[in-house]
Amino acid sequence: MDQATNLRQMVEFESQNTYKQNKNRTVESGIKAKGPRVIAVASGKGGVGKTNIVVNLAIACRRAGNRVLIFDADLGLANIDIIFGLNPKYNIENIINGEKDLSQIIVKGPEGVDIIPASSGVQELTQLTEGQKLNLLNEFDMLDRMYDLLLVDTGAGVSSNVIYFNLAAEERMIVVTPEPTSVTDAYAFIKILYFKHGIKNFYLLLNMVNDEKEAKSVYGKFTKVVNRFMNGISIDYAGFIPRDNYLMEAVARRKPVMCAYPEAASCNSFILLADYLSKKGKNPQIDGNIKFFWKRLIAGETDVDNKR
Ligand SMILES: Nc1ncnc2c1ncn2[C@@H]1O[C@H](COP(=O)(O)OP(=O)(O)OP(=O)(O)O)[C@@H](O)[C@H]1O
Ligand SMILES: [Mg+2]
Repeated sequence: MDQATNLRQMVEFESQNTYKQNKNRTVESGIKAKGPRVIAVASGKGGVGKTNIVVNLAIACRRAGNRVLIFDADLGLANIDIIFGLNPKYNIENIINGEKDLSQIIVKGPEGVDIIPASSGVQELTQLTEGQKLNLLNEFDMLDRMYDLLLVDTGAGVSSNVIYFNLAAEERMIVVTPEPTSVTDAYAFIKILYFKHGIKNFYLLLNMVNDEKEAKSVYGKFTKVVNRFMNGISIDYAGFIPRDNYLMEAVARRKPVMCAYPEAASCNSFILLADYLSKKGKNPQIDGNIKFFWKRLIAGETDVDNKR
């Protein structure tokens, strides 16, 4: 069976399943109604909860009826696999080498969330031959029809790879905790995207906070500084995830907290976050979807100065 046939079968399978799931829904979600959306999840400092947020948000969005794909672009430890309790055999490197096609590397996670596993191959995405680029783009074209949402776990820090993924995505969610170094590192991260690349729109998500009051206080201080130095920037408050022992327990059990402890306080916050993003909807002015994300990434078309 050739690659295109494999993918076509996946598309048909996915759309039938989604139809079954959505049949009884009366309200179309903002994520779904406006086509595929690409959201990068980033942070200045490491260990602030990005991977847990990506995984649990993915499940919340999935439960709301969206077809969700996670791209684990974190070049450090393959965290998504650990949290989902998966052991993927292949990754994107196998596509670049021509050993596997997309349908063979996509891993099926819990509750129908799909994952493209991380690998060192991600780094090579920017250094491909024209032929390799075309092969990849042809494969990734299919993803637009298969998913409503692509969540990208971009890893921490300001390395060129992390910046690159954040430029290729159409929306960016920055995760911060109340810890001062997390806040200053987030500021440094946003500064680079704003001054060097003209990116002006961000979501800020507060993690590991005691309550909403603390979340809003950190958000308030953060935006005050940012607004003073970065003209025309927009930092939207995406809400907060409380510090939650159940989430830590779930990590120890290699399960997303949404599956292991659905009644936990953090789960309610993930549902609220999915709802927030859905209501916020995709910015109609942004010319982006999964296909554009890959195009920008692979073709190196990330010169977005002053466009966003
Ligand atoms: N809301 C929370 N409540 C309690 N603990 C949390 C919460 N979010 C994250 N943690 C803890 O922080 C740890 C790191 O989380 P995670 O791996 O998701 O961070 P990360 O930002 O992806 O890290 P890295 O930068 O290394 O990729 C988790 O293993 C968990 O113990
Ligand atoms: Mg991580």
